[in-house]
Amino acid sequence: MENKKIIAVVGATGAQGGGLVQAILNDKDSEFAVRAITRNTNSDKAKALKEQGVEIVEADVDDKKSLIKAFEGAYGAFCVTFFWEHFSPEKEKQHAKNMAEAAAEAGIQHVIWSTLEDTRKWISINDNRMPTLQGIYKVPHFDAKGESNIHFKNSGVPYTLLNTSFYWDNFIYFGLGPQKGPDGKLAITLPMQDKKLPGIASEDIGKVANGIFKAGDKYKGKTLGIAGGKLTGKQMAEGFSKTTGVEVAYNDVPPEVYRGFEFPGADDMGNMFQFKADFEKEYCDARDIDLTRKLNPELLSFDDWLEKNKEKIKV
Ligand SMILES: NC(=O)c1ccc[n+]([C@@H]2O[C@H](COP(=O)([O-])OP(=O)(O)OC[C@H]3O[C@@H](n4cnc5c(N)ncnc54)[C@H](OP(=O)(O)O)[C@@H]3O)[C@@H](O)[C@H]2O)c1
Repeated sequence: MENKKIIAVVGATGAQGGGLVQAILNDKDSEFAVRAITRNTNSDKAKALKEQGVEIVEADVDDKKSLIKAFEGAYGAFCVTFFWEHFSPEKEKQHAKNMAEAAAEAGIQHVIWSTLEDTRKWISINDNRMPTLQGIYKVPHFDAKGESNIHFKNSGVPYTLLNTSFYWDNFIYFGLGPQKGPDGKLAITLPMQDKKLPGIASEDIGKVANGIFKAGDKYKGKTLGIAGGKLTGKQMAEGFSKTTGVEVAYNDVPPEVYRGFEFPGADDMGNMFQFKADFEKEYCDARDIDLTRKLNPELLSFDDWLEKNKEKIKV
């Protein structure tokens, strides 16, 4: 254990970071040991990690000093932000800056930044195809991450920018699962027309990060895009029907209808799906399934993910 290189993991009790923690623990000959970062070392999730023998340290992405302490002595750091906790791109940018600067001050040798595209490179804020949100953004939770890449590039720390994909887990935990329409029939609703949506099992993101750290210098200075599959709404609905044995349809709605749904962040999500549909080729091409599988040989396809999670899918 003492000789192992430490990977400090932000969001260790969550989806992405949690996937990385488990990937390192399950990798028996791993050259790495995990340091899990949490705001509360006494939470049930933190205690469960402690029971698995994981080192737990307290830090908050709001507090750079706490991050420096949490990163000190580590070889690598996995950095992720938590947009849906606050819905603020400004906070997200500050958190990313804090992590990049803390990584530099702590002497981290490889940082992986879980990011997404700044959509304003494709659709400027003066473009009226979709509304501009929070003054200067098209897809706030994408744009803030993409804009923050600069902090990692400028940090002087060897970095890998990791463009992630839509979690299929959103169909279980984010309220996007099959729902009954006025006709009583189940459907998944996405404003994606007949376009392909790159997706991934959230646990696979952390497993990919483990593969990137294991590859040493190979992906330092690189931007990687990952996905477990690229499926249309219709194909995903067919997958739900096949796995659950209950007919699930694909309900394609216009993005403006989606933006009007009454859940927090519906406007951001509506713009996000519109961006993915309008720039299908660029967005899909930026995500390489073969490379994702090379970095994580256990990568789940959508069908694998459905099979693994069928008990949790409400139909
Ligand atoms: N949903 C999707 O389809 C999707 C796709 C791509 C990217 N993303 C992005 O993924 C990000 C979220 O990652 P995730 O899904 O892994 O998160 P998550 O599962 O919601 O986990 C968040 C964890 O991070 C910790 N955390 C929250 N606020 C923190 C803070 N201020 N300082 C330190 N730790 C904090 C919490 O742990 P403690 O309570 O233990 O501190 C929590 O367990 C978002 O920015 C989102 O935009 C989402």
